[in-house]
Amino acid sequence: MKALQYTAYGHSPVVNEVPEPVPGPGEVLVRVAGAALNPLDVKIGAGYVQEYFPITFPSTVGTDLAGTVERLGPGVTGWGIGDAVICRTDPTAGGAVAEYAVVPAASLVAAPTTVPLDAAAGLATAAATAWQAVIEIAELRSGQKVLVHAGAGGVGSFVIQLARRTGAHVVTTASSAAAEIVRKLGADEVVDYTSVDFRTAVSDVDVVVDSVGGEIEARSLDVLKPGGLLVSLPVPPDFERAAARGLRAEFVFHASDAERLAKVAAAANEGLDIVVDRTVRLSGAADAFDYVAQGHAKGKVIVRP
Ligand SMILES: NC(=O)c1ccc[n+]([C@@H]2O[C@H](COP(=O)([O-])OP(=O)(O)OC[C@H]3O[C@@H](n4cnc5c(N)ncnc54)[C@H](OP(=O)(O)O)[C@@H]3O)[C@@H](O)[C@H]2O)c1
Repeated sequence: MKALQYTAYGHSPVVNEVPEPVPGPGEVLVRVAGAALNPLDVKIGAGYVQEYFPITFPSTVGTDLAGTVERLGPGVTGWGIGDAVICRTDPTAGGAVAEYAVVPAASLVAAPTTVPLDAAAGLATAAATAWQAVIEIAELRSGQKVLVHAGAGGVGSFVIQLARRTGAHVVTTASSAAAEIVRKLGADEVVDYTSVDFRTAVSDVDVVVDSVGGEIEARSLDVLKPGGLLVSLPVPPDFERAAARGLRAEFVFHASDAERLAKVAAAANEGLDIVVDRTVRLSGAADAFDYVAQGHAKGKVIVRP
């Protein structure tokens, strides 16, 4: 079969011919309908996160996949051949961007029935991280104001929708090219980050969900209410600086969790939308990977082997 593989840290991945994996005890072979790329894949390939997610080369790219059960390993029950599933693999294991992937049966979740199966891969990291940030960490509620940075991004596009579902007032930063997308997702206000400093456009915010980091994180403290909460995605925020200003800060460390992913799949069945920037074949996966690395995807980039 073909798979997109890392060959060394700091090199763009390439499509290789590799043996079809064989499911061991407790594992399932999935025929991949779609795999979603994430900035995490780029960070893994660059070697930035090798302390947490070390890989050995060659290693197949990707944590997010959707597909159908092709074969069951010894001892697997509860799943049948042909079942439509989604899952997030452990980042160290990867393996999603390939024609077939072997995954632990315990990581599988029934795919939502209301969205195309290949696109459903886009839920695995981005939507589940958004769920963790909005529902579990921020516990956002009706009447609160949330600022969502990078609302058109993979995570941001789900954060807007989940925040909107809580009844919160949603302000988001996005370039003018993405304004329509984020409004359709439910943003009440859109700030064009390319021409406006968001601090001049928004204040008295209860929660900021920041998937940009750096200077954006630092400036976000200026718009929070006393006691407000900064939820950071790219790296752990400056907890001391936040505390010194009477604010709270939390880092989202997203670990694969089938229970949470099942809730996200249910939300998709209830209308949570998956914004797909582009869908490519495996032959275009390396270019798609480079595109994700540039940081301007609108929603998810899907590889359909
Ligand atoms: N901690 C965790 O567990 C966890 C989990 C998931 C993701 N993350 C991290 O969260 C970050 C975002 O992930 P993602 O998948 O959402 O990324 P993404 O899909 O690549 O985000 C791209 C989007 O970011 C927008 N953007 C770029 N710079 C911006 C800025 N200064 N202000 C506002 N928008 C900006 C782009 O808008 P334009 O194209 O209009 O410029 C584009 O729509 C990454 O660093 C990722 O590694 C962390």
